[in-house]
Amino acid sequence: MEPSFYEFRKIEDAKGNLVAVEGLRDIPFEIKRVYYIFAVTEGARRGFHAHRELQQLLICVHGSCKVLLDDGLTKTVVTLTDPCRGLFVEKMIWREMFDFSPDAVLLVLASEHYNEEDYIRNYNEFLRVCGNKGDLID
Ligand code: TYD
Repeated sequence: MEPSFYEFRKIEDAKGNLVAVEGLRDIPFEIKRVYYIFAVTEGARRGFHAHRELQQLLICVHGSCKVLLDDGLTKTVVTLTDPCRGLFVEKMIWREMFDFSPDAVLLVLASEHYNEEDYIRNYNEFLRVCGNKGDLID
């Protein structure tokens, strides 16, 4: 699958840098929730789920990390290092985040409030629900 990125304008002056991201203007959804992941334990892998409806934009605002995206047919891995670039993660995409640098801060903009019922945390259930023919894990 092809990852989808959004590029944001860096407003740069003698005082430093600023990036603004507006829902429905710079990204394709209204922002209902913001969270950030930081001080990730060395070697830890996060995520391991898909969402039924939630859309998200992932911006590594400091440091770096990798994101595996899986639509049930193909997988791709992207490296996030640029605070001016956001990775769009559509609904029904399995994601895993890993290789966080010790200083990484991963900012996530989300289209919905937190709802545990929107999560699919079982990979085989994800494959069944998304209808793609990936490899079922025994
Ligand atoms: P989870 O989404 O499983 O984290 P990751 O995918 O990065 O491994 O969430 C971890 C915990 O945080 C889980 O107990 C749910 C809670 N949580 C909230 O309370 N609100 C939120 O907006 C998010 C994303 C998680």
